Amino acid sequence: MTTFDLRAWSGERLERVERALENWVGVEAPAGLGEAMRYAVLDGGKRLRPLLVLAASEAVGGNGQAAVRAACAVELIHAYSLVHDDMPCMDNDVLRRGKPTVHVKYGEAGALLAGDALQALAFELLTPADDGVPEAMQARLCRLLAHAAGSAGMAGGQAIDLASVGVKLTEDQLRQMHRLKTGALLQGSVLMGAACGEVSAAEYAALGDYGAAIGLAFQVVDDILDVTADSATLGKTAGKDAEQDKPTYVSILGLERSRAYAQALYDQALAALDASGLPDTRALRALAGMVVDRVN
Ligand code: IPE
Ligand code: IPE
Ligand code: MG
Ligand code: MG
Ligand code: MG
Repeated sequence: MTTFDLRAWSGERLERVERALENWVGVEAPAGLGEAMRYAVLDGGKRLRPLLVLAASEAVGGNGQAAVRAACAVELIHAYSLVHDDMPCMDNDVLRRGKPTVHVKYGEAGALLAGDALQALAFELLTPADDGVPEAMQARLCRLLAHAAGSAGMAGGQAIDLASVGVKLTEDQLRQMHRLKTGALLQGSVLMGAACGEVSAAEYAALGDYGAAIGLAFQVVDDILDVTADSATLGKTAGKDAEQDKPTYVSILGLERSRAYAQALYDQALAALDASGLPDTRALRALAGMVVDRVN
């Protein structure tokens, strides 16, 4: 098998996603809201979730229009979650993606509303009147994204996170918190990509297992980087978790065991791809590598 060039593969797709976001986000929003929305979304971020949507969709021969819309929609939910996560009532952060956070720049009400509007726009993008996306597919994509973003996913996980400050969680409780606050949206990205095509129940389940493994691995690595990387590399303030007394993989398992756990989850993700029987999962494999080997 020829080696897979992730950089070349991503370059083209990132361009497509950036162009779409540029066209869709905050255009004509009144009273400075559009500016805050664009500030939150454009010029920054690794765009891992959009890449997962596109890779999963390509692996199943999915509908390209639907996949680009799903890729942007999930990035909008992610960007909104970051805007709110950084607010003084949550993690109280001043740096994100190498820039002052949205509330620092536009005020708390501006950040709250930018997040609200990004969330709504995500679902608007998934339900176009005239872009060749069948209505049943639109509905499935909305259901997956709503589930990943809501109380059973990101928002629920964030609630657990805030309730856990200063609390000593068991490893099971920590895993559950991470699965919800971060894993759900990453797994949702993979499943939304799958929902852009026709998949068997077995393929869908295997992709779900892959998404669950990399989703959890992603937050394990986020916890590690908070301790080992510097703010300039991260584009966000390093060392916040210990400062705010948040339970993390590093606080519970230590650095070495956290690294080993991320590696074990990577192996699980690849095993799930093998089990899927899908003919070409090279991009998904490479993205799993990016999740665990990343430096920011
Ligand atoms: C940061 O996510 C927040 C977490 C869920 C841990 P990313 O590391 O994907 O952030 P960006 O999109 O690249 O800024
Ligand atoms: C945030 O987790 C997960 C979200 C749902 C935004 P963190 O609070 O650890 O994310 P960072 O480290 O601020 O990016
Ligand atoms: Mg947080
Ligand atoms: Mg945070
Ligand atoms: Mg973090």
